[in-house]
Amino acid sequence: MHLTKGEEKILQGEDGEAAQKAMELLVALGEIYRAEKLIDVASVQVSGVSHATIGDAGLDFLEDLASKGAKARVSATINPAGIDLERWKKLGFKESFARKQLRIVRAYEAMGMLPSYTCTPYLIGNLPRFGEHIAWAESSSVVFANSVLGARTNRESAVSALASALLGKTPYYGLHLEENRKGTFTVEVEAELRSEADYSALGYYVSNYEGVPLFKNISPGAEELKALSAALGVGKINMFQIPGITPESGSEKGEKMEFGRDELREVYEKLNSADEVDAICIGCPHCSAAEILKIEQLKPEREVWAFTARKNKPLIEKRIKNIKVIYDTCMVVSPLRDLGIEAVGVNSAKAAFYCANLSKLRVRFDSLKNLVKS
Ligand code: F3S
Repeated sequence: MHLTKGEEKILQGEDGEAAQKAMELLVALGEIYRAEKLIDVASVQVSGVSHATIGDAGLDFLEDLASKGAKARVSATINPAGIDLERWKKLGFKESFARKQLRIVRAYEAMGMLPSYTCTPYLIGNLPRFGEHIAWAESSSVVFANSVLGARTNRESAVSALASALLGKTPYYGLHLEENRKGTFTVEVEAELRSEADYSALGYYVSNYEGVPLFKNISPGAEELKALSAALGVGKINMFQIPGITPESGSEKGEKMEFGRDELREVYEKLNSADEVDAICIGCPHCSAAEILKIEQLKPEREVWAFTARKNKPLIEKRIKNIKVIYDTCMVVSPLRDLGIEAVGVNSAKAAFYCANLSKLRVRFDSLKNLVKS
């Protein structure tokens, strides 16, 4: 891989140990994927923030890096943490968990990451332009950025995104290249999709395949696009196309598959394991302020937990009946079992999948409308 003189110097350690380690990692990654060079990125989205997912080893790694003077060279937002950073005690999170979580947060902030704690950076100011190269790690935002915004990113790991934040660079391969962004198979959607949960079910079903799906017969709005992106990211898909909706879309390509009523029902049957739930958790990916107001308009008959970015707080400051707004975290990366929760209601297939498989919770997967009226 070709390196500039400046990049060579970083690799020799002239900018310090942290930058050297980051460069070693990006060069190794670039060589694995046969990238010809490194390119500059406009922004980074860093994952690996909750102590529930990175554990003590991750915490030690981040503190060590911060102590070596690592600093972000480019705008870098970060994923949800494992707790609401201000109200964790009141919400009932364990002190032992919270203390470690707060150390992780301090390490990231010491490295100059922006304290965003959200998986929807594009809703709170980290909004890349069409064609811009970025290095994002959160899968739902990767799919959204590539497909809906037309920005260019591979799905980075927590460590490679961190290295990109410290250098402002990423290897030039994969979805940064025009030729890899074309549709590779077509999905004829025969089922009528009536809710964000249905779009999420579609994404979950197609996430079992690889490539760039081109969807036909659907016309999602912003929230459905967000839901579809998150569910596609459960598998290996990092970009999709919808003619007339996404900025990059070609004509039908490759194999054709159908998504009809049977397939839709199959997803609901697979993801549902509970009728009664202890908490209704909305916000995978994180809710926009408008989505929280939408929940309010549905007049929920029981309490709904809405997960969102703290930056939205000024927009939703008033107390809303039956809605508990939780910032900085989400239903998947927070230890809900510590709060006595064993079954959750979610309208996101991604949340349904991970709540069941990571957190070992029972799940009801349904539309927002049905959940809040149950
Ligand atoms: Fe975001 Fe958590 Fe879902 S990070 S995409 S709300 S699993």
